[in-house]
Amino acid sequence: MKVIRSTSPVLLFLSFVLLFALAPVSSASAAGLADGQYSAQYVVWKADSDSTSTANTYFEKPAKLVVKDGKIKAQVTLTNSSWITSFKTLDQGVYKDAKVISTNTAANKRTVEFNVNSLTEVIPAKVSVTVPAIGYTGNYDIRLKFDAASVQ
Ligand code: HEM
Repeated sequence: MKVIRSTSPVLLFLSFVLLFALAPVSSASAAGLADGQYSAQYVVWKADSDSTSTANTYFEKPAKLVVKDGKIKAQVTLTNSSWITSFKTLDQGVYKDAKVISTNTAANKRTVEFNVNSLTEVIPAKVSVTVPAIGYTGNYDIRLKFDAASVQ
């Protein structure tokens, strides 16, 4: 007597359809990024509300993502670089200086890199600003929010 019946091909097919229907829409979600380079949209939010910070203007879009061994690093270009004397992001509970990758003195820009543990989590950051000509200085908390769905 045959005890174990083989799964019907129709059932198997339907299971697959269900599996894909329930899978996350974004193929490029944080966890699933294969090693390589991507671009991603992001926005700089104020410290205490999900609204655009003044700092957003000075962060070029999109960011470049460099994924290696499943770890994501983001590279962003800061404009008016000489005014932005410090830029740190929260990484494993510690604010760390974003690493300067390149500087374009003529354009007054610099590209910096920092770790991104999850593309769906908001990244707290700190920025220090000095505009000597008008005597403006500020040390601000800001937050970076990536748009995981924009990764390509
Ligand atoms: C001529 C240049 C600038 C002027 C006149 C200016 C002026 C101001 C003023 C009046 C405020 C509100 C008062 C305060 O919270 O202190 C402010 C807030 C702020 N500024 Fe500036 N700013 C300049 C450049 C920058 C730059 C280059 C950055 C960063 C890249 C920046 C980041 C911020 C942040 C993060 C805040 C806190 C409120 C928010 O997140 O929107 N500012 N700025």
